[in-house]
Amino acid sequence: MIVVLLGPPGAGKGTQSGTMVKKYGLCPISTGDIFRSNLNAGTALGLEARSYMSEGLLVPDELVVRLVIDRLSQPDAQNGVLLDGFPRTVFQAEELAGFLAAHGKSVTCCLLLDIPEKELMVRLTGRRVCRGCSSVWHLTFSPPPTDSVCPYCGGEIHQRDDDGEAAASNRLRVYQAQTYPVIAWYEERGLLKKIPASGSPQEVEKTINKALE
Ligand code: AP5
Ligand code: MG
Repeated sequence: MIVVLLGPPGAGKGTQSGTMVKKYGLCPISTGDIFRSNLNAGTALGLEARSYMSEGLLVPDELVVRLVIDRLSQPDAQNGVLLDGFPRTVFQAEELAGFLAAHGKSVTCCLLLDIPEKELMVRLTGRRVCRGCSSVWHLTFSPPPTDSVCPYCGGEIHQRDDDGEAAASNRLRVYQAQTYPVIAWYEERGLLKKIPASGSPQEVEKTINKALE
């Protein structure tokens, strides 16, 4: 099963991905997480992505596509994949379909986390994440047990650089302009399933499970 998890910044892709990969035995591929771990490690890829990410802009297509194709070619990605945050442009969707077709595969379905835009700024600006293991909390909806130390790995809990008001609202604009057309692309191919994403994480998870049955 190759599942694309699509949705605006803050819709809950990372939150749902955590439970889906366990339940369905999928290999998680989050382009945002890959860029952030490269940034933490100070690699050339991380440094190249940094200027785009901190402004809330998309990293150039060619770079992202190369990265994902390389990741999809690795052994642990051969028996099911969950793509979180990719594809984000129609070009990326087409490149993904072309790569998979060349290997006798295709996207099983695209789950769209559907949520009114007014809820997203609250989710983004209140989010806190662990630098070490990427665990996610929210100051109001799921507060971390301590202010600064991750209970799972002892890493530092912090606010993502792109979760401040300015970068977050820019990301929402970029989503409307560049990622919104990807919804129609999957819909036209009969692969889109809309998942209402305003409820609790558990409610969203139930709807996802029904959609994947
Ligand atoms: P990425 O890391 O993918 O960020 P994003 O798509 O903007 O999405 P987020 O991670 O912000 O939100 P999410 O949907 O995962 O929400 P979460 O579960 O954390 O990408 C970052 C950057 O990398 C991009 O801006 C771009 O520069 C670059 N990039 C990445 N992929 C790219 C690509 N393909 N092409 C080009 N550039 C790319 O939840 C958010 C908050 O809400 C959390 O606090 C959580 O606890 C809370 N929450 C979640 N669900 C619920 C719920 N049901 N109820 C209440 N609270 C909830
Ligand atoms: Mg995420």
